[in-house]
Amino acid sequence: GVAKAQSPSTLTFKSIPQKITETHAVADGYDASVLIRWGDKVVADAPAFVPGQVDANAQNKQFGYNCDYVGYMPLPVGSQNSDHGLLCVSHEYTNAELMWSGLKDAMDASEEQALHEIAAHGHSVIEVKKTGGKWQVVDGSDYARRISPIDTEMQITGPAAGHDRLKTNTDPTGTRVIGTLNNCAGGKTPWGTVLIAEENFNGYFGGDIAKTSEERNYKRLGISQDSWYSWVKYFDRFNVEKDPNEPNKFGWMVEIDPYDPTSMPKKRTALGRFKHEGATVIINKDNSVVAYSGDDQRFDYLYKFIAANKYNPNDRAANMDLLENGTLFVAQFHEDGSLDWMPLIFGEGPLTAENDFHSQADVLIEARRAADLLGATQMDRPEDVEPNPVNGKVYVMLTNNSKRKEGNAANPRAANPHGHVLELTPPGGRGKDADHTASRFTWDIMIAAGNPAVADDKAVYHPAAESWVSCPDNMAIDHRGRLWISTDGAPKSDIPDGMHATDVDGPGRALTKFFFACPVGAEMCGPEFTPDGKALFLAVQHPADGSSYDAPSTRWPDFQAAMPPRPSVVAVTKNDGGEIAG
Ligand code: FEO
Ligand code: CA
Ligand code: CA
Ligand code: CA
Repeated sequence: GVAKAQSPSTLTFKSIPQKITETHAVADGYDASVLIRWGDKVVADAPAFVPGQVDANAQNKQFGYNCDYVGYMPLPVGSQNSDHGLLCVSHEYTNAELMWSGLKDAMDASEEQALHEIAAHGHSVIEVKKTGGKWQVVDGSDYARRISPIDTEMQITGPAAGHDRLKTNTDPTGTRVIGTLNNCAGGKTPWGTVLIAEENFNGYFGGDIAKTSEERNYKRLGISQDSWYSWVKYFDRFNVEKDPNEPNKFGWMVEIDPYDPTSMPKKRTALGRFKHEGATVIINKDNSVVAYSGDDQRFDYLYKFIAANKYNPNDRAANMDLLENGTLFVAQFHEDGSLDWMPLIFGEGPLTAENDFHSQADVLIEARRAADLLGATQMDRPEDVEPNPVNGKVYVMLTNNSKRKEGNAANPRAANPHGHVLELTPPGGRGKDADHTASRFTWDIMIAAGNPAVADDKAVYHPAAESWVSCPDNMAIDHRGRLWISTDGAPKSDIPDGMHATDVDGPGRALTKFFFACPVGAEMCGPEFTPDGKALFLAVQHPADGSSYDAPSTRWPDFQAAMPPRPSVVAVTKNDGGEIAG
């Protein structure tokens, strides 16, 4: 036969079929082993998981539900150790109908179940170690920690801290809050902290927003009588009629020091309040600290933050509060291929008393409305945004937009069910020369997702692409600068969610390959490499979604009759111990 031309991709694995099954699949030559499951022990005295049990105290010591963000933090702090570290995992939300028997909807959960759900939210810190080539959780670790909206006290910092709009029944100071909600993606800082994002926090609150002084603010964020959870029935803090300012304590980025299990997490109001998908930090060549963040909602915006003070590579303590103060910017894309970062500063442009902004706190609490007034570009749901340290560009996952009627710059497709991947180029040059503090970048569409075999999808890839992407959500950039894309929503097109990977530069640019497939019902979250590129941690979120505890579409990952499906983190390694796709 005719010899097939060599693929120009630098990714050495062979693509797997895009086929939905009861279990996960990974490329040949790789091992994908379950590391930790919902209900597994996190803190030393956690009880064992019992299927069907309702026990908030147990859950508050066990691995939470719907693992999303995964951050690998080497041990010791500041090292590049790729064999031993902490795994910091966020628990975005709960699926009551998959956790317990007989529930059709989370609104039917009992008070005990609601408490259990609350404890299943938040974040887990576990210690992990590679022994004999296999990743395992270190039992009884001193670092192990559960952070939950049950009992984890957090400090509110930055310009909105202590503002009247943050004062609540339980906190007249406006500087404290119990817990964090709907922690989706996240990021980490070069000084060894983890950033976890508060995304769809609106869904936990209920009551009549017209009875508060925050109606405009809450409406813009989707807080309404139609709560997604039963919590509002049992706990006053989730009812805006009883504690009208509580929702103002959510929608922030939260910074955690995982190396100190007694440290108090800090909400960083300087980064603005919206539905943060995540936040990713890069140190600019002048040691400026720049964080990128997406607001995951149809027609919402892309943001960046520049800290007021510079990073000190030799003094961890001096960096710990860098995110307390700085300037938040929102993106405005232009048809000529440029984009401007517009600052959200009280007193500038329309952000004045005339528009009911009376301080920087007001601008940050209602960041969306401030951005509306500045004329920010309405995006197709910005999910993860990450700077690529190798080529200096910034990648933006736009997951989809079912409601768009007309394209705009950077979101050109009127109907966009599959989303796209934007590439932003700061001025200055490649890698370290890229100036992330600049107010003007350029942009390009790297991948227009969709099925290249369907003309109506108007998909754009490398002509030799081996997989097609639908609904890009999270991403990882490996140490060679290659882009790993996870998806959330592909099953609508009868393909599984999972991991795609592509080169970003060279002849394999936009040549996507499919590396890992999720089990039925699950979306793919948390892609995270160890610094040596030899391990890839993946979060399998909501396996069996769309079915129920009593008739689950899969019992992944245990496949035992009594075991429900369990969201889990998987550790992927190459069988020969080498670098993934190396
Ligand atoms: Fe929680 Fe935007 O995905
Ligand atoms: Ca999700
Ligand atoms: Ca996400
Ligand atoms: Ca998503």
